[in-house]
Parts: sequence; structure tokens; C-alpha cells
Amino acid sequence: MFFSIIIPAFNERDNIPLVVERLEKLLPGDNWEIVFVDDDSKDGSLEVLMGLARSNPRVRFIRRIGRRGLASACLEGMASSCADVFAVMDCDLQHDETILPTMLKAFEEDPKLELAVGSRYTGQGGGTGDWSKSRVFVSRFATCLGSVVRKTPLTDPMSGFFVIRREIFEETVRNMTGKGFKILLDIVLSAGRPLRVQEFAYEFRTRQHGESKLDIVVAFEYLYLLADKIFGRFVPIGFVLYVLAGLSGLLLHLAVLAILHRAGGLDFVPSQIAATVAAMISNFLVNNSVTFRQQRLKGGLLVPGLVAYMLICGLGAIVNVESADFLHQGGIPWWFAGAAGAMVGAVWNYAVSTQIVWTWLPGVLKTRGR
Ligand code: GDD
Ligand code: MN
Repeated sequence: MFFSIIIPAFNERDNIPLVVERLEKLLPGDNWEIVFVDDDSKDGSLEVLMGLARSNPRVRFIRRIGRRGLASACLEGMASSCADVFAVMDCDLQHDETILPTMLKAFEEDPKLELAVGSRYTGQGGGTGDWSKSRVFVSRFATCLGSVVRKTPLTDPMSGFFVIRREIFEETVRNMTGKGFKILLDIVLSAGRPLRVQEFAYEFRTRQHGESKLDIVVAFEYLYLLADKIFGRFVPIGFVLYVLAGLSGLLLHLAVLAILHRAGGLDFVPSQIAATVAAMISNFLVNNSVTFRQQRLKGGLLVPGLVAYMLICGLGAIVNVESADFLHQGGIPWWFAGAAGAMVGAVWNYAVSTQIVWTWLPGVLKTRGR
């Protein structure tokens, strides 16, 4: 059995050589390799990786440029490997590598085993180390939330420390979201059937070098992953977010209208125009930071983005009115024609702004800036 240890690494310069050293001590034999997946770290990781890969045939690495993400890094590491079994482990030594040999042995002994998970919450010896109370709470809460959609029973589905057989990777990879942090959960959810799993207790260690990359965006991506697994079959989650952003814009619109027209005594038409502009700006900003967070526009791209967005929504309004009018002329009741027009407008806005504002525009402006 040949296995790859896939290690996602982002700004982990000081930890990389330590991980290699510890794994080499732990695993005799030469039926394994280490694959680091580095997302163009700026701390000098590359030089360290080059040095190791040149001198040690067990070590290789993938460099991803212009990309980020823990889950996708792990997936690409696996995709690059010819191994029968993949182990995934963090680079910061927080995962206790000493349980790896036992996990790997379980695969050799039980040919039916599909997944082995390092768990902080099982049996004796599991634990969250020196995590703060609030982080433990968040982690527990996220775990409970996840259990709603899971088929495979796991005490620690958030774990980023696990071993899987190649077949499971092949079976699930095309269904996976590949976004965010929670790769194990993504695999388990994408499998669509209970996997044959075994858990191994370990104590989460304290990070010695570098810093954690978990932040609010990661937490948000987790909710996105769950929502995508639950509703994604029916409607693209991006569209749902887009419509929710639109509803928030409608509220803002009414609030501005109330303030200017009702309270401020401004005429209806200028008030309505001001409210529309305010809602468009707010929708743009909300969509930019939520719906299209992965390709968010920043700095100098914000203003051209906003202008393009407003033009597209203006056209969307015409498409909306035209299609509603068409239906209404054809004898469709006014409320249905109106709602259908609004829906057509929303789909137009979503589809066209996805392509133009958040895909085409940043590409063009970036290449020209270079
Ligand atoms: N290539 C790449 N790209 N690697 C990344 C990225 C990225 O965008 N973000 C993080 N990593 C790497 C880090 O360098 C580290 O090796 C590992 O992924 C985990 O990142 P941390 O930032 O240390 O995560 P953590 O300690 O908060 O999270 C841990 O706990 C989770 C359980 O709640 C990790 O063990 C997770 O894997 C685990 O799911
Ligand atoms: Mn960590």
C-alpha cells in the first residue's frame, strides 16, 4: 500500500521542516510521500520547500498561484497523487501525527475501511487542547449543525486530520463544493451514503509557529457549504443569496422613501429615485461581500463594478417591465404578470452581473493594470 500525506500549507515556513522531520521519524519504510500544497505563501516557504524537495525524494509540493483555500488545496494534492490511500494533515503540528501509523495500519488490516478520522471528541485521549471556551463552543455548535445533513456518524466532522482510500476520493470529488475549510465534511456529505469509518482519538496541540487562518469568512463558508448541500440541488445557492440581498435592498428602499418623502416632505419622484440609487448601491455592496465573496471586487475595481452593476440592473428593469407587459397583454392576471416580470428581471440581473461585474470586468481591468 502506497500512501501520500497531503499537507495544505499557507505561510508555514518554520513548521514545514519540523513536520517532515517528525513524519520521517515516525514512518519507516519508503511506501509513502509528503505532498505540500502551498498557496504562494509570502513568508519564504517556497525556498524551504525547494530545499527539501531537492534533497529528499519523499517530499514534493504543489504551488498554486492566485488561488486560496484549504479544502481545494487538499483536493488538488490528492488529485496529483498515485497513492492508494491519502492522509490529510495540517502543517502547523496541531494534529498529533503519532496516531498516523495506527490509522494507516487500520487500512492495511481492514480492506473495507474507507475513512479514518482523527477526532478530538471521541474516547479517551481526545481533546481540544488549549482552545478558548468560545472556540470550543463554536466548534461544537458547528458540529451539531452539520449532523443534520450527515449520513456517516462522526464525533468530529470538522476535523482536518483524516485518512481516506482513493476510491472514496474518486467517488466524491466531482460532487464536492471544494470551498472553505471543511474538507472532511464536504467528502462525507458528497458521498451520499454512509462511509465505513473508524475514529482515532487525539489531543489538539497548540500552534508554535505562524498563525491560524480561521476567521469569520471561514465560518461563513461553512454555512454556505451546508446550505449548498441542502438546497443546492434545487436552486444555485448564489441565486438564493442574490435574492436575499435584493430583499434587504427593498427594505432599505422603503426606509429611504419614508424618510425623504413622508418625513422630509420631498416630492415622490426624486425620493423614489434616491431610494432606488441607495438600494442599488447597497445591493451591490452586499452582493460583493456575500454572494460573490470569492471573487470580491476591491479598491479601484469597486467604482467601475458599481457603475456596470447599475447599468445591468437598469437593463434588468426594462427586461422586467417588457416581459410583464407581454404577459399582461396576453391576458395573464396583473399580479402574476408583475411577479413573473420581477423574477425574470432578477434572473437577468443575477446571470448578467455574475458574468460581467464579477467575472469579465475584474479580468479585463486587472490585465490592463499590469
Ligand atoms: N494551501 C493552503 N491554502 N493552506 C491553507 C490555507 C489556504 O488557503 N488556509 C489554511 N491552510 C493550512 C494552514 O497552513 C494549516 O496547515 C492548515 O491549513 C490549517 O489551518 P489553520 O489556520 O491552522 O486552521 P485551524 O487551526 O484554525 O483549524 C484547524 O481546526 C479545524 C477544526 O476545527 C484545522 O485542523 C482544520 O483542518 C480543522 O478543520
Ligand atoms: Mn491550526
